Amino acid sequence: MSKDFETLILETDDSGISTLTINRPKQLNALNNQVFEDLDAALDKIEKNDSIRALIITGSGEKAFVAGADIKEFADFNSKQATELSKRGHRVFQRIEDLTIPVLAAINGYALGGGFELALSCHLRIASQNALVGLPEVSLGLIPGYGGTQRLTKIVGQPKALELIMSGRFAKAEEALQLGLVNTIAEGDLVEEAKKMLSGMIKQAPLALKNAILAVSEAGNDSGFESEANLFGDLFDTADFKEGTSAFIEKRKPNFSGK
Ligand code: CAA
Repeated sequence: MSKDFETLILETDDSGISTLTINRPKQLNALNNQVFEDLDAALDKIEKNDSIRALIITGSGEKAFVAGADIKEFADFNSKQATELSKRGHRVFQRIEDLTIPVLAAINGYALGGGFELALSCHLRIASQNALVGLPEVSLGLIPGYGGTQRLTKIVGQPKALELIMSGRFAKAEEALQLGLVNTIAEGDLVEEAKKMLSGMIKQAPLALKNAILAVSEAGNDSGFESEANLFGDLFDTADFKEGTSAFIEKRKPNFSGK
């Protein structure tokens, strides 16, 4: 367990799956300034550590993943300060989306406002049975400010995104699954099931996972197909491509080196 952060716990298991836990349970893990500073520092560590093969982001306690940006902290902000707050959220969440290892949000309970936006910046999402996701910012006289208007719309389309944003209502795990907002709902222990989901992925070639994340992130861009061709082509120069194809021909399991 890492004691390097005031508001986060970063742990890595023997298989290389790291779990980053937002740890302000009394405030339902609301995202204050310190959480963002800690997230930046934790991401520095994760980016530098090649032995980390996948990342789970979750919240401390039974009740909440993250109940949003810390409302008490920004209650007195003016417009300029609020715009800066939003831009910092965008920058840090983009760092999460840009990680080239699989990143899975394990949503235990409430994922609201900035908390849902954090989950949406992850590549994959698994929900607990009691998960509730939503963007209730309109009830505070606001709109989502940590990327929710963009990322939610990309996943569910404009009508559903506006319905969720303008009602501010919470969706239960089952509805979130139907909408494609989460990949699956955990039957048992959330983090164990999250690890199970990732364990199949981290057996695959690391550079292939990286290029898959990069190529999919280009979907919808004019350059998407060209990027796919280049990212596909680049993999032919890797040792793992040689290993993967040799293993197939030799009818054995591949032993990938990540090179
Ligand atoms: N910010 C600051 N503190 C929060 C918080 C938040 N987003 N969410 C919960 N807390 C605090 C509460 O103030 C309370 O603290 P105290 O004990 O000191 O009073 C503690 O966490 C426990 O919360 P509740 O007593 O409210 O718990 P509950 O079970 O009655 O309700 C809840 C749970 C429905 C999630 C409720 O806490 C709630 O509605 N939270 C706010 C949700 C929200 O509006 N999120 C959006 C924030 S704005 C945003 O995120 C903007 C953006 O896009 C960048």
